[in-house]
Amino acid sequence: MSSINLAFASLLIVAIYFSCFANGDDKGPVTVLDAPLLTKKINSNVTIKVDINGKGDYTSIQEAINAVPKGNSKWVIIHVKKGIYREKVHIPKDKRYIFMRGNGRGRTAIIWSMSSVDNKASATFTVEAKHFVAFGISFKNEAPTGVAYTSQNQSVAAFVGADRVAFYHCAFFSTHNTLFDYKGRHYYDNCYIQGSIDFIFGRGRSLFHNCEIFVLQDKRIAIHGSITAQNRENQEDHSGFVFVKGKVYGIGGVYLGRAKGKYSTVVFAQTYLSRTIVPAGWTDWSYHGGPDHLFHAEYKCHGPGADTFGRVHWAKQLTDEEAKYWTSIEFINGNVWLPAWL
Ligand SMILES: *[C@@H]1O[C@H](CO)[C@@H](O)[C@H](O)[C@H]1NC(C)=O
Ligand SMILES: *[C@@H]1O[C@H](CO)[C@@H](O)[C@H](O)[C@H]1NC(C)=O
Repeated sequence: MSSINLAFASLLIVAIYFSCFANGDDKGPVTVLDAPLLTKKINSNVTIKVDINGKGDYTSIQEAINAVPKGNSKWVIIHVKKGIYREKVHIPKDKRYIFMRGNGRGRTAIIWSMSSVDNKASATFTVEAKHFVAFGISFKNEAPTGVAYTSQNQSVAAFVGADRVAFYHCAFFSTHNTLFDYKGRHYYDNCYIQGSIDFIFGRGRSLFHNCEIFVLQDKRIAIHGSITAQNRENQEDHSGFVFVKGKVYGIGGVYLGRAKGKYSTVVFAQTYLSRTIVPAGWTDWSYHGGPDHLFHAEYKCHGPGADTFGRVHWAKQLTDEEAKYWTSIEFINGNVWLPAWL
């Protein structure tokens, strides 16, 4: 191809790219995923501003949510300005189509401190409405559970209990039981998740893309904590947690997952695993069903914790063909409902 032809071809590609972009409702993979892009894709004409310093419509996030009409069926943007919002936030079932846009996970945070024997009750943030998107927000439960405390209480940072929920560039902080991925299809992109024991748990069908997982030490149990405790109980419930291209590191040793339900399903693919992952990789501690239906798998992970020598015999290594199914956006049908993905 001559250089003129080449230049023309690139121009054409650029033109096609921008014309797709301009019509606003194209769906497909993108290269940069930020708040302006999501705002454009979601294309809402209603924005409620929350500003802790009083320069918005509300100073509390919950008040803004309360202002969304019940049975809402058009996207509403709740723009949460920079600041630390000390409140519990609940999005009930009938407040669908909320896009909660923060100013970045280092700038906008929702923090509460509560520990309870009831996971859901302890949660700082709870979403029970379908069609929810968050960008650039930190969710934190500051309750002092863990090392210094022997209580069996839980302290959940976020409870995600609805279908079609996505978090972009968010962070979740707690110790024990940080992210309760309860049910529905979910997408987590470029998120940071921190905890010690069973800190990503529940029965969601979720894809974690390029997320960073930081492990904290907890001395309560000798066998170490576990990153995931996936609770798929039968063949019909299609839940499972899939981690693609992120990294796992931290303090002390943990398992990638422990069998919680009989069909517990977790995949780590193309992920960096530091030495914090113990050689056995997975555990069936406290689980009495036998490993036949467990699906705890890895695919092309790298780093010192990815060495498969010493892995439990029931852990799986996926083939390229198998990995395609698990790592594709179609696993959560994201191509149908997500505003954007990578
Ligand atoms: C937003 O757009 C919808 C149509 O998509 C329209 O019905 C509604 O009145 C608009 N709301 C405002 C506040 O402009
Ligand atoms: C544990 O949770 C219960 C309620 O479930 C509560 O009454 C108690 O104060 C909590 N303990 C701690 C240490 O927070």
